[in-house]
Amino acid sequence: MIFAGVYIKNPLFLAPMAGWSDGPFRRLCLQGGAGLVYSEMISADGTVRLQKKTLDLARFDDHQRPISLQMFGADAAIMSTAVEIISRYAPDFIDLNFGCPARKIVKRGAGAALLKDLSLLQKIAAAAVKATHIPITAKLRSGWDGESINVVQAAQRLQDVGVKALCVHPRTQTMQFRGAADWQLISEVKKAVSIPVVGNGDVRKPEDAKKMFAQSNCDAVMIGRAACGNPWIFEQINTFLQTGERLPAPTASHRIEMCLLHLHQSIETYGEKRALSLMKKQIFLYLRGLTNAAEIRKQILAANCTMDISTILESYIHSQS
Ligand SMILES: Cc1cc2nc3c(=O)[nH]c(=O)nc-3n(C[C@H](O)[C@H](O)[C@H](O)COP(=O)(O)O)c2cc1C
Repeated sequence: MIFAGVYIKNPLFLAPMAGWSDGPFRRLCLQGGAGLVYSEMISADGTVRLQKKTLDLARFDDHQRPISLQMFGADAAIMSTAVEIISRYAPDFIDLNFGCPARKIVKRGAGAALLKDLSLLQKIAAAAVKATHIPITAKLRSGWDGESINVVQAAQRLQDVGVKALCVHPRTQTMQFRGAADWQLISEVKKAVSIPVVGNGDVRKPEDAKKMFAQSNCDAVMIGRAACGNPWIFEQINTFLQTGERLPAPTASHRIEMCLLHLHQSIETYGEKRALSLMKKQIFLYLRGLTNAAEIRKQILAANCTMDISTILESYIHSQS
């Protein structure tokens, strides 16, 4: 399908997730059937200062396409320069984060804080659109709090300045991740704009995705937490949407093999030391629900090198066969 001018093979997207949606994980999700993957959020301020740590977040290779690099910032001029710099990495999309509820982001006036100032939000988006030929998209929450739900107005303003697609995570900033995502708001945004709308929030299984498409008429569904330790979810949903069939859950060995692949790609990308610290939390999610998971978790927690982790995981596979 064509999504905002770019060919994508299906309408199931991996959500931007700071600390999670890095290169190795994006690659596995694309192999696991995702149609588009998003980077972790990248600071516009850090980008214009050419901070190495920030720019590292924008790196990707062709195994990670199609990709959207997500930016956050609170100033239109800075965003304009940052978008110009990020465009040199040639992502398929650049996404603007108007939804992050984290304190350290909103206290700088970025992320969901911009929902309190739609004029500034629109100015930032307009500056981003003018700064690049790459399609600019945006990801929104419902509003700041229950008394100020304004995602429909925000969506219209963004469309007016040339934003090419929108993603709606219908929770307010004050909800953080509590309560349920209000999918009705996705449908209201969809009715109010003519650009594609991506629905997001609480899709955990194939039936949820089907329901979100049906209830909101959204053009694509974005999956975050349910993909962590579970990159098969995209293929499971794709199959279910196309055939109504539920693929069997991956076996314990298959889960661990995927986990090992993830670990090795992480070592290749970051080197041994950083991969060790980044990967433990990811591995725990692959282990979720497996027999003896608590014991293996303990061993992995105590491991001092990735070689030990590989050995623990490999002996687990042998113990299963
Ligand atoms: C650990 C974590 C990090 C996140 N980081 C980002 C981010 O960098 N940018 C963003 O727009 N949303 C971020 N989100 C929000 C997700 O993209 C998504 O909107 C949210 O998790 C709801 O979708 P889900 O129910 O499928 O997880 C993050 C969520 C989590 C759990």
